[in-house]
Amino acid sequence: PTIYAITPTYSRPVQKAELTRLANTFRQVAQLHWILVEDAAARSELVSRFLARAGLPCTHLHVPTPRRYKRPGLPRATEQRNAGLAWLRQRHRHQQQRAQPGVLFFADDDNTYSLELFQEMRTTRKVSVWPVGLVGGRRYERPLVENGKVVGWYTGWRADRPFAIDMAGFAVSLQVILSNPKAVFKRRGSQPGMQESDFLKQITTVEELEPKANNCTKVLVWHTRTEKVNLANEPKYHLDTVKIEV
Ligand code: UGA
Ligand code: MN
Repeated sequence: PTIYAITPTYSRPVQKAELTRLANTFRQVAQLHWILVEDAAARSELVSRFLARAGLPCTHLHVPTPRRYKRPGLPRATEQRNAGLAWLRQRHRHQQQRAQPGVLFFADDDNTYSLELFQEMRTTRKVSVWPVGLVGGRRYERPLVENGKVVGWYTGWRADRPFAIDMAGFAVSLQVILSNPKAVFKRRGSQPGMQESDFLKQITTVEELEPKANNCTKVLVWHTRTEKVNLANEPKYHLDTVKIEV
């Protein structure tokens, strides 16, 4: 199956560095289609040029987050992930019944992904799950597995979540995405940290989840976050002799 990775991304000093790291990983994964969705009113020059040279099958989308939703404490990238979902459904619109084999994964631009993770998710039948490192105020969060079934969650944060899992902790088959055409990320009524649960409960149940990574005992992805860059010495106006894209 093809792995479709939906990556929301937005303009900031570290953007090109993040995308470079991500592309270097994805380039080593067979049959991966990258859906990069810019949080912007238009496709940027920087990302367009970057993708043209990335050497990866990709689709370049954009949708701006409405200003009112750009606030601390509110979920990020809702509109961008939905744009990726809409593109996938449109592309496979004639295959509702029997879709080409495919697996969808939400790959934020700042996380760290092992290559093994992609081997694991490629065998997803409906919805698969695995541990995520460096998240939830702990070294890792993970689904608790008994007799091959998810029976609970090891987490340090909001254990009341129906699916106590980060965006990087699950994959969904294309068939499931197509047979649940209305499943999207919602702004309305979505509390902080509930995006994953609100999405997953539209398409699956905890009982149905497929544990990966040796019954969810191996951490193959890390919720790394990049430090805010220090630009204290950046000149107020352009001082360099040539224009540099960073
Ligand atoms: C956590 C989760 O891991 C994310 O999946 C979730 O979207 C996010 O919380 C949330 O609060 O909604 P965190 O590391 O705090 O992640 O979030 P970021 O990595 O800053 O953002 C998630 C993704 O959205 C990234 O790919 C980022 O590039 C993108 N993003 C972020 C935008 O497209 N626009 C923004 O204004 C901010
Ligand atoms: Mn992040």
